[in-house]
Amino acid sequence: MATWRRTALLLALRAVVAAASSKPPLFVVDLSKPAERRWDGAVAMIIDRHSYFHSFEQVFATHNRTLFNWVTPQQWSAMGQAVRRHYPEAASELSGIAAQFAELGLPEVSYEYMVGWLYFHELLHSDINHKPDKHSKALMDSNSIMDSIEGFLEEPKECTGVLIQMADGSVIQGANMDQRPYAGRNLTLQVRFVDELGETVFEGVDFYALLSTGLSRAVRKGLASVQENWRHGERRPGADVIQDIEDGVVSQMLVFRHAFVSAHRAAKAGSPATFGGFLWMLSHVRLAAPFFVVTAGPDRGQGVIIARNLTHGHGTAKMSRVSDLSEPDDWFMVQANTDRWLPDDLAVPRRAAAELTLRDFGKEESTSMVGLFAVMSTYPVKNSETMFTALMSARTGELHAFIREATCVMDPSATVVHVRQSCSAPQHFPSPKETPVSTTEGVASWE
Ligand SMILES: *[C@@H]1O[C@H](CO)[C@@H](O)[C@H](O)[C@H]1NC(C)=O
Ligand SMILES: *[C@@H]1O[C@H](CO)[C@@H](O)[C@H](O)[C@H]1NC(C)=O
Ligand SMILES: *[C@@H]1O[C@H](CO)[C@@H](O)[C@H](O)[C@H]1NC(C)=O
Repeated sequence: MATWRRTALLLALRAVVAAASSKPPLFVVDLSKPAERRWDGAVAMIIDRHSYFHSFEQVFATHNRTLFNWVTPQQWSAMGQAVRRHYPEAASELSGIAAQFAELGLPEVSYEYMVGWLYFHELLHSDINHKPDKHSKALMDSNSIMDSIEGFLEEPKECTGVLIQMADGSVIQGANMDQRPYAGRNLTLQVRFVDELGETVFEGVDFYALLSTGLSRAVRKGLASVQENWRHGERRPGADVIQDIEDGVVSQMLVFRHAFVSAHRAAKAGSPATFGGFLWMLSHVRLAAPFFVVTAGPDRGQGVIIARNLTHGHGTAKMSRVSDLSEPDDWFMVQANTDRWLPDDLAVPRRAAAELTLRDFGKEESTSMVGLFAVMSTYPVKNSETMFTALMSARTGELHAFIREATCVMDPSATVVHVRQSCSAPQHFPSPKETPVSTTEGVASWE
């Protein structure tokens, strides 16, 4: 009797724990295995925990509605062939993952569908994306006032990166991933890539690692910690983005993985990669959509933010350059989704919130993983859409990843910055995606 009561109590508690902040499961990818087999067991690792309905299906349904349902059969096939041609290793890994879905009776999660996810960011930046943006005519003309109101209330909150210089000069990095839908948390995986000796090549965390074979938050000890953040821009014609993919332009999700794998090879061959070389690559690799890169190296003051356009670093801010800091005495830099030479996003001022919090904590309290975690957990830096927080150090190779609850602020008058709404609107409402900004003004002063 007592035993089953205890078991029942534990089960009840477990349900609570499953909904609270939690550690993402760790999956190890052995790069010495054949590419098709490297992710064996990874799909089951997710589905055994949360079921297909509570994980992949919600994520697919959400982004099918506004994005993937508008990809034509010709475009699916063009992308599938392009990845086979230009990135055969990624194609084999994705085929292996698709085979796992097929074995579970889910053949619709095909190789081609996953190639769509590999280029998720790029397609979102194109006019294939049917999510109305804040100023879109569709939204203004909408007959449904409710849709418009919800659209305006529901500001997108998409990722924050924080770099903090420690007492020893090295730089630690905090990365929040803000994305919809809520069920994306249930997909989040920590992934460690190892070589034939079991040595770590790099480690990272993402909600769509399994749908891309790449990671948008990652660290390689001795070289760099790095993340990407969404950068607004005019929507590109879908045909141009597909053409870039056919021409072999790399997916944003693979940029960091490729750099870390070649750095590992170089280290084994006796000529270790440098943070400077890593930065050069990040500033010059051809992209099919803009993004921000936030990155830190292992040595003193190596903290850098790059605002990337398709071909170049459009602006680069360095922690070691006092003129690049928001205030001359700052020991940190913050990047959300607004170019640093533009005012912060007034609707959800995450950059300002993090900077004010850091100055309030002071140098002593904030220069630690604990201080960094506290900043990353301050509303609206952490908001209802924050899926997970990663804390990284290039010097030590540390990666601490936590899945975050979708919580609401109960006392909006007590938050560090004024935010119009404290809670997320129901997710089925269309929401504004992006505010095209002029990227020409003020670049010179920041460069
Ligand atoms: C999403 O779209 C793909 C490709 O059209 C389709 O195969 C899949 O069934 C869809 N999934 C959901 C959950 O809507
Ligand atoms: C995540 O999975 C749990 C079951 O493990 C489920 O209760 C929860 O609703 C899922 N989250 C979402 C947003 O679907
Ligand atoms: C991209 O950035 C480079 C470097 O700042 C600049 O010369 C180029 O004009 C930019 N391209 C576009 C399309 O804005």
